[in-house]
Amino acid sequence: MYTIVLATQKGGSGKSTLAIGLALAARQSRHSVRLIETDKQGTLSNWQNRRGLAEPIVEPVYNAPDIEPRLRALERDGVTLTIIDTASGTNAATTTAIRHCDLCIIPSRPSVADIEAMVATIAVARAWRKPFTFVLNQTPIRGGHRVNDATSVLDQRAPRDLAEVLAQPFIAMRNDHQDALAAGLAVGEYAPSGKSATEIRELWQWIDDRLNGCAADDEESASEFKEEPFRFVFGQNPVRPIAPAVPQFPVWRDVEPSWDARP
Ligand SMILES: Nc1ncnc2c1ncn2[C@@H]1O[C@H](COP(=O)(O)OP(=O)(O)OP(=O)(O)O)[C@@H](O)[C@H]1O
Ligand SMILES: [Mg+2]
Repeated sequence: MYTIVLATQKGGSGKSTLAIGLALAARQSRHSVRLIETDKQGTLSNWQNRRGLAEPIVEPVYNAPDIEPRLRALERDGVTLTIIDTASGTNAATTTAIRHCDLCIIPSRPSVADIEAMVATIAVARAWRKPFTFVLNQTPIRGGHRVNDATSVLDQRAPRDLAEVLAQPFIAMRNDHQDALAAGLAVGEYAPSGKSATEIRELWQWIDDRLNGCAADDEESASEFKEEPFRFVFGQNPVRPIAPAVPQFPVWRDVEPSWDARP
């Protein structure tokens, strides 16, 4: 079973929207999908209530210590993909979810403030040596300077391999996403032949490729992580040195100090 986590400090960046969209795209590509919600705000549960359909099942799991046992149980039950939607900010449930994931997805609107707010999540992912990827969400339909500015800020922060950590395509700002959420649908159900649905399907393909690329050589290093204590305390501890990069999916190594979450 693969586990992906949507996490970032900034509220409203699209974690829940992308969790739903990706869940449905993965189901359409024959995954057995479960959604876990660690956010007490309940965006996914409310969506499920509006939906009135059993699938995909949304499970609220608010206590950090319950996350790992739940993931193990889901794997035993034959679930092939679990997507965890987390609350904004940094909290125990989010750091635990990242600890047990195969890929941490960090969505961001194309604004400098949103991108800078990724720092805390990057630090947690790096501390657990977990691969992470950025998704630019709510980008202007015509691209324009905001997307260029956002990618150049990312590029400055990550002098190399940006192409490997910045997911494609970017997800444009379109009403479909909001209307689908309101209707208890995923955008791929609400407007299956629309551009938003196409983008989400392509994004799922990109993520799926990364998951498959990671799986081959992650096991050895993953077992090392589990033995290591979690040492990240926001604003206090430096991030630990990075493990040898996974060729298909490197973590950033050349980040500037401001991205190391040091005081
Ligand atoms: N690509 C998009 N186009 C248009 N609207 C979007 C898009 N992505 C998200 N939204 C809208 O932006 C708002 C915030 O999205 P969402 O709830 O998914 O963010 P979040 O990161 O989960 O927020 P929170 O931190 O509060 O949990 C919602 O109203 C959602 O419908
Ligand atoms: Mg949310």
